[in-house]
Amino acid sequence: MHHPVMLDEAISSLNLKPGYVVLDGTVGGGGHSKEILKRILPGGRLIGLDADQSAIKAAGENLKEFGGNFKLINENFRNLDRALSKENVKSLNAVLLDIGVSSFQLDDKDRGFSLKEEAPLDMRMDRRLETSAYDIINRYKESDLSDIIYKYGEERFSRRIAKRIVEERSKKPIETTAELAAIVRRAAGSGQKHYRIDPATRTFQAIRIVVNDELGALEEGLKRAVSWLDIGARVAVITFHSLEDRIVKNLFKGYAGLGVLKIITKKPLGPSQEEIAANPRSRSGRLRVAERI
Ligand SMILES: C[S@@+](CC[C@H](N)C(=O)[O-])C[C@H]1O[C@@H](n2cnc3c(N)ncnc32)[C@H](O)[C@@H]1O
Repeated sequence: MHHPVMLDEAISSLNLKPGYVVLDGTVGGGGHSKEILKRILPGGRLIGLDADQSAIKAAGENLKEFGGNFKLINENFRNLDRALSKENVKSLNAVLLDIGVSSFQLDDKDRGFSLKEEAPLDMRMDRRLETSAYDIINRYKESDLSDIIYKYGEERFSRRIAKRIVEERSKKPIETTAELAAIVRRAAGSGQKHYRIDPATRTFQAIRIVVNDELGALEEGLKRAVSWLDIGARVAVITFHSLEDRIVKNLFKGYAGLGVLKIITKKPLGPSQEEIAANPRSRSGRLRVAERI
């Protein structure tokens, strides 16, 4: 089960009306899309994208009551131009991006997203990608690994961790999430008391961001999305990582300076205490909203 994060806040921020054409760039299990469809029918249409084939399947099931009013496409949202043109969309009345991994992906043991499961080192959202976590962990230079873990994991022990990975893989390839997690935990060693979370969490997050080029996709996809907005149309973005939130903040600011967007959320909104209590995975969610002017 995936609990859609900041559902009410995100949906109400989009000012949806019947007849709207809406893009959900990260359809996942279809939780947000379902609420969008309820508000844009009759007459509206939803295009849902997801890089993950399994998400498209799950969302299709979840949304089937809405019949022919939506189209789901297995596509990275950085390629939304292609998807929207193919669907003969002329412009959009609202866009939602709910970035990151879903609970389906985290809980699917075979995908390698979770450090709590023994799984092959994969972490690809889109299984058509050629490079998996295995390739990065076993082939990247030590200095590149260290940089990645530092930059995308904001991990202070990145050098130690990268060194240990390289030592271990010279004995035998590192094949599973459990092996990687154990190596990282050992490398963090005496630093462990600094962690409130599992010491492997940040390294896993860093590798996942690189496997899926998550920051590059967000920057490119959000720029493309803005170019499709009708005057008055809103774009809402939920992120789970400070680097992602910074990208959204800076892009919105840049467009506001150009007179293209008006920023609706001066500060990002977070989930309520109730939501965090019911779904701890929501705790780092940040919502930013802007309107095409
Ligand atoms: C947090 S979940 C979305 C959950 C969804 N809003 C719901 O209510 O069920 C994020 C989803 O976005 C997808 N995703 C992440 N980055 C993507 C990208 N660049 N292009 C397309 N899908 C992406 C993931 O595969 C995942 O299914």
